[in-house]
Amino acid sequence: MKKVGIAVLGLGWMGQAHSRSMLRIPSLFPDRDVQPELIVCADVDASRRERAVQDFGFLEAVEDWQQAVNDPRVDAVWVTSPNMMHIPMIEAACAAGKAVFSEKPIGGKPEHAVAALAAATAAGVKSGVGYNYLWAPLVIHAKSLIESGEIGEITHYRGRFLSMYGSDELGLLTWRFYLDQAGYGVTSDILSHSVSMAQFLAGPISEVVGMKNMTITHRPIPQEGAAGHYGRGKPEDPKGLVENEDFASMLCTFESGATGTFEASRTMVGPESQNAFEIYGTKGAIYWNLERLNELSVYRLTEDLSSGFTTVFGGDRFPYHGAFAPGQANNIGFEDLVAIEDLAFLQSLVNDTSFSPSFTEAVDVVNVQQALINSWETRAWEPVISLAPEGN
Ligand SMILES: NC(=O)c1ccc[n+]([C@@H]2O[C@H](COP(=O)([O-])OP(=O)(O)OC[C@H]3O[C@@H](n4cnc5c(N)ncnc54)[C@H](O)[C@@H]3O)[C@@H](O)[C@H]2O)c1
Repeated sequence: MKKVGIAVLGLGWMGQAHSRSMLRIPSLFPDRDVQPELIVCADVDASRRERAVQDFGFLEAVEDWQQAVNDPRVDAVWVTSPNMMHIPMIEAACAAGKAVFSEKPIGGKPEHAVAALAAATAAGVKSGVGYNYLWAPLVIHAKSLIESGEIGEITHYRGRFLSMYGSDELGLLTWRFYLDQAGYGVTSDILSHSVSMAQFLAGPISEVVGMKNMTITHRPIPQEGAAGHYGRGKPEDPKGLVENEDFASMLCTFESGATGTFEASRTMVGPESQNAFEIYGTKGAIYWNLERLNELSVYRLTEDLSSGFTTVFGGDRFPYHGAFAPGQANNIGFEDLVAIEDLAFLQSLVNDTSFSPSFTEAVDVVNVQQALINSWETRAWEPVISLAPEGN
């Protein structure tokens, strides 16, 4: 079994999720070819560095992420910092010849994902991007149903990611709300998940027209320590300006000729984490919603027109599910998808096989994002043009 030494850059929500995955992978996947080893964690927050060593068992935790990247014991770097830190970290990891797995969206603006792909290609290192929902066992099953023609030709795709993480006016002004730390708002943060899912299931998007909105313009400034994603301030706390969009929507056309509609919001009240799709074909339909991660709704048109939606529960008959829970309808959760993607990426490193979604697929997402941004300006349909560097 080959060992892979790992550096994690940023031990917030996702840095912890990936670190926990590395610890769980050996017991979850006994048949693996790879042994992940948590070598070094970098974080600017001292209490998180302490946790890295004490609770996660990293050999070391450092303040300077460059030190972690250049550590000779490190073979692969996980980038789990705020968006606008992704690119310097990815470029340094590539320059040091390390494989790199970055959380989505890769930077905060389209050009950042493009730069990441250029750096990985130039260095000849493997890359991965954290579009973790593509690894949900029932999403993989949905893809196989589509590919085997179960719902016929896709005619329409509805994608949405409606989250309540910013719906509280006292929700803290964390890095996600600043242009220089997050880049764009929901289009980078969560519409990117919907677009990656759509292109995974229904193929490339070729043109879009869309709109954006901002609904909460000021938020409390965090007063102490590292502010968590779901942290809440007090009414008397000083407030600062939100700099990027809370809402985005778009109409699109797929290369196949199918139509699509997309919505993403971080401030709507009601949908708590509704990362969902509805796919309509000539012979059926498929629905999935993260809020019900372990259920897939499938409609198959029957000759006698007695059709109806059927609920398929998750279970060990679907890919990866049995690693977490045996049998049927014993549920898996968010971090299990992170463990699956981490295992798949690690396996691709030791077996030298291709991995998707990589920085190539991250650029496929920002190609659509750029067309949407263009359409905010022109208020017209915009073509999706490949931004991938030559030769990619
Ligand atoms: N795939 C998913 O489902 C998912 C979910 C949440 C976040 N994300 C992505 O993960 C990334 C991190 O988001 P998060 O919610 O974990 O953020 P977070 O704020 O919880 O954590 C970020 C961490 O980075 C650290 N950090 C900041 N600057 C640093 C620097 N210069 N050097 C080292 N560490 C530094 C912070 O102290 C913090 O511990 C983002 O790109 C986000 O888009 C993905």
